[in-house]
Amino acid sequence: MGSEQNRRIKSFLPTGLLGRSLLILMTPMLLLQVVTVLIFFERHWDTVARQLSRGLAGDVAYVLDYLGQYPDEDHFKWIQHSARGHMQLDLVFEPDAILDEQTTEPPFGLVSKELFIALDERLSRPFYFNMDLDDRRLEIRIQLKHGVLSIVAPRKRLYNSTTYIFFMWIAGSALILYGVAVIFMRNQVRPIRRLAKAADQFGRGVDVEDFKPEGAAEVRTAATSFMAMRDRIGRHLSQRTALLAGVSHDLRTPLTRMKLELAMQQSSPGVDALKQDVVDMERMVDAYLAFARGEEGEKAELTDIGKLLTDQVGEALRDGQQIDLHIEDNLDMELRPQSMRRCISNIMSNAGRYANNLSVRAGRRGQDYEIVFDDDGPGIPAEKREEVFKPFFRLEESRNQATGGVGLGMTIARDSARGHGGDVMLEDAPGGGLRVRLVLPIGH
Ligand SMILES: Nc1ncnc2c1ncn2[C@@H]1O[C@H](COP(=O)(O)OP(=O)(O)OP(=O)(O)O)[C@@H](O)[C@H]1O
Ligand SMILES: [Mg+2]
Repeated sequence: MGSEQNRRIKSFLPTGLLGRSLLILMTPMLLLQVVTVLIFFERHWDTVARQLSRGLAGDVAYVLDYLGQYPDEDHFKWIQHSARGHMQLDLVFEPDAILDEQTTEPPFGLVSKELFIALDERLSRPFYFNMDLDDRRLEIRIQLKHGVLSIVAPRKRLYNSTTYIFFMWIAGSALILYGVAVIFMRNQVRPIRRLAKAADQFGRGVDVEDFKPEGAAEVRTAATSFMAMRDRIGRHLSQRTALLAGVSHDLRTPLTRMKLELAMQQSSPGVDALKQDVVDMERMVDAYLAFARGEEGEKAELTDIGKLLTDQVGEALRDGQQIDLHIEDNLDMELRPQSMRRCISNIMSNAGRYANNLSVRAGRRGQDYEIVFDDDGPGIPAEKREEVFKPFFRLEESRNQATGGVGLGMTIARDSARGHGGDVMLEDAPGGGLRVRLVLPIGH
């Protein structure tokens, strides 16, 4: 259950580095702000509302005391004038009126509740107040002995606007901070993304140009190391091919000499066998040289595998092969077309050689393109399936010259597939025969 819950939480969290680092950065900040606002401002607001309400209620009580002391007309004018000038209170007396409504319960709302408490404490008369006389003023009506006194005061006297301004400042500055953090983090994440992309391309055999290492020191080091590694692997590969090509090339001269030597010998079973061996060796050397030459410096480009397959199948059909081709999706990817062509044609020529019918299906499977070649030939026994990928390996029954290969086809096919980050696998075809599965990662 615990892991199930974990998984559910994880599915909500961002997976990318940018999202994660922003989350790590922002969660404590947000928490801090929420706690600050809740604890500090709750109390602050309460206190301010209480103080302001008390101030207003005090003024009202003061005016009432005065009116009680000097109830005549002249004094009322004077008190009215003074209250307006010093306390922002507008007094109107309605003689003989009776309050039609009374506030007896503390109303809902922090400020009006505090005002009710304050008025209730100071006035020993029935009163009524309306917080929303208009959008700037409130009214307090008080029942006096000979009428109703209406006091209109600005709402500003009760509401503290700086609290809101402060709150806006906190939210606003947080937003600005987040914005800055996003920009900075994005700049930090970009070089990591680029490195990941370069590594992915390199894995699929796409050439990776030099790029300028950027970002934090660790990321720069990783980028520099990656490029050094790429160069080292590249050198290693071309060195290996060049060395083998050199050896093969140098073998040709002694082979030619042996052939001449043998031609002058009397024909006998031993000599004939030797002649055949020399011919085989020459073919192997030539095949290897052809392969090594083809490997040199081909560039990856965006290629439609479907078209490549159609071309190859077209060629094979002209040669009289029975092929059934089925392409399910649009299969575009970055690859070295010559190398991939060689891979496909080697697999198909095997089917042509060792089977009668071939069915080819190509489509997208998740993150890969998959091309499946099913034939109806004798197949390859499971324990031999790894062997056939070894250079110059041929199954015993096909050692006869009728099928005439040298045993490099599968080696080349797998080499090409792996050079593109994919692989070639051998399985049983549903109708007997061999299934060759060619898998190529699409990349990002
Ligand atoms: N479709 C197939 N059905 C049965 N056996 C196969 C099939 N494909 C390959 N093989 C076996 O695997 C061996 C190796 O194949 P590979 O393509 O490497 O060499 P080859 O076809 O003999 O020579 P070449 O270098 O001309 O391709 C073959 O000799 C054959 O015995
Ligand atoms: Mg072959």
